[in-house]
Amino acid sequence: MTTDTPTQAVDIRAEAQALSNAAVTAGHAPSIHNTQPWRWRLMDNQLDLYLDHSRGLEVTDPDSRLAILSCGAALHHAQVSLAADGWHALLARLPDTENPDHLAQLRLDHRIPVEPAAIRHLQTIGLRHTDRRPTRGAPVDADTLRSITAAVESAGTGLHLLRPDEVYDLATAADHAQRTEADETAWQAELGYWTGGNRLLGSGIPDAAIPHDTPRTTVPGRDFGHHGDLLVSDAHDRTADFAILYGAEDTTLDWLRAGEALSAAWLTATELGVAVVPLSATIEVSATRALIRHLLADLDHPYLVLRFGTHDPADGPAPHTPRLPTNQIIEQV
Ligand SMILES: Cc1cc2nc3c(=O)[nH]c(=O)nc-3n(C[C@H](O)[C@H](O)[C@H](O)COP(=O)(O)O)c2cc1C
Repeated sequence: MTTDTPTQAVDIRAEAQALSNAAVTAGHAPSIHNTQPWRWRLMDNQLDLYLDHSRGLEVTDPDSRLAILSCGAALHHAQVSLAADGWHALLARLPDTENPDHLAQLRLDHRIPVEPAAIRHLQTIGLRHTDRRPTRGAPVDADTLRSITAAVESAGTGLHLLRPDEVYDLATAADHAQRTEADETAWQAELGYWTGGNRLLGSGIPDAAIPHDTPRTTVPGRDFGHHGDLLVSDAHDRTADFAILYGAEDTTLDWLRAGEALSAAWLTATELGVAVVPLSATIEVSATRALIRHLLADLDHPYLVLRFGTHDPADGPAPHTPRLPTNQIIEQV
């Protein structure tokens, strides 16, 4: 029988703590309808990420592309946490060919110096949120858009910023997608299940984060089927920019990487004072996804549409959306 020396015991505790911190931090990631479709298995010096179909959107997201993209954002959050704890982790994406729901495995490898940027990113995770009010602040400057694009590219995905004429095509596609979805009873029922009301469980989008009136926008935001409690001004979001996260292929691996890129972009944007709203309706409906692909010259595949903008500080902060208790998403083995 071998027993751990005191130093080894401290190391093991530090490793377990870093991995636990990573899984907890990942819980703050954005997800489609705040479904939080992830499950973490925590053991020894490794952390495994699984897609949790029990919180999947069968009607809205039948092939799980947006759920997997959400898991990618959680995976990036976990990596930020490990870096801020001073760990270099080895990442294997889709490590189990027999189990496609096993999305990633993180194994602690060695200690690294903690960079100020890692601490800043960790703090930003607690600040980042979706603000659906019209952006009525100053336009986002070119340097800031370049920094956000660089964050996306460093995570292995592309970001196509739309020209004004392309924004009108996006608006038409978004309107078509919303109408298509609203016509489907099963889709309405699924949206109704995940949005509005006062949820105790910590999943779904509460009324506090849903506009009380339809915001005046060039590209329609998500139609939640009812109005919530979030006060919106009658300003028009004319200064907003729109972009498409894209890549060369359209596989599970690409959706996972797109989620990592979404997290990297959103944290960078938040640090630079830019608000982000993902707009996924055009991706959910296959006909409008094809229209969005035309904006990429039919060469690449669109993963998600993003709105960038700045808010008037006088508007004050928008509320944060709650999360599931950690014991529902982390399994200790
Ligand atoms: C893949 C994906 C798709 C999303 N689609 C939309 C959308 O179409 N409209 C919207 O208002 N928010 C959208 N969101 C934002 C989520 O609703 C939001 O992340 C979630 O409710 C958690 O809230 P938080 O971002 O404020 O933490 C999306 C997020 C992700 C990750």
